[in-house]
Amino acid sequence: MSKVHFVGAGPGDKELITLRGYRLLSEADIVIYAGSLVNPELLEYCKEDCEIYNSAVMDLEEIISVMEEGVKAGKEVVRLQTGDFSIYGSIREQVEELNKCNIEFDCTPGVSSFLGASSAMGVEYTVPEVSQSVIITRMEGRTPVPSRESIESFAAHQTSMVIFLSVQEIEKVVERLVEGGYPTDTPAAVIYKATWPDEKVLKGTLSDISKKVRENGIKKTALIMVGKFLGEEYYNSKLYDKDFVHEYRG
Ligand SMILES: C[S@@+](CC[C@H](N)C(=O)[O-])C[C@H]1O[C@@H](n2cnc3c(N)ncnc32)[C@H](O)[C@@H]1O
Repeated sequence: MSKVHFVGAGPGDKELITLRGYRLLSEADIVIYAGSLVNPELLEYCKEDCEIYNSAVMDLEEIISVMEEGVKAGKEVVRLQTGDFSIYGSIREQVEELNKCNIEFDCTPGVSSFLGASSAMGVEYTVPEVSQSVIITRMEGRTPVPSRESIESFAAHQTSMVIFLSVQEIEKVVERLVEGGYPTDTPAAVIYKATWPDEKVLKGTLSDISKKVRENGIKKTALIMVGKFLGEEYYNSKLYDKDFVHEYRG
């Protein structure tokens, strides 16, 4: 029985797809890929006669109808989404429609861009005793954000934060982070197109990151990171401490 396979494409670099994702892509009869963000080089993994659709120019109804017709014709359909589909991936509405049509699907995760970005910088979000939580959020745009999830309210925790979909309004993000409680000397970074060949990493603090973003002309496909995890202070983990005894090391 053929199916729809949701596959996380990873953050950009075509080698950052999972082995299963690669296999599904190479076996697919139909691929619907998110053309605004997925690296088109990933389509090189497809069969020569694979039908390829760019969802950037399609609406939900069109996407579902390609899926439905494909599966009914006994074809394997891959829905290739950027990073991992569980983060700002609009997968819920697709799944709901597939359920209504009794179309089977499965999901293969991908490397989200916030993980591609931390790898690009060689940083840990959860530095012992500095920060043990990561907040993933965005500022409202055309998509609203519930008021109880304001940037200010999250900033009050002063933990590690990764802000998606908001670099075009960096000044406003910074203002709200500071209003919420981060001191202006808190380390901040902006990563543009993490893991792509034209990746850019800008490092600074809340007082100068906006200027750096404007100077570099970054308006989209970037993440804002903020928090002390980017700073100089760190403590070693207990896990590799020679005096720390645990189950695997007596
Ligand atoms: C619609 S969201 C999709 C996120 C995706 N599902 C993920 O897991 O990364 C698009 C936003 O993700 C971020 N993004 C996606 N790919 C990126 C990359 N390679 N580098 C930096 N930011 C990226 C940007 O904030 C962009 O505006």
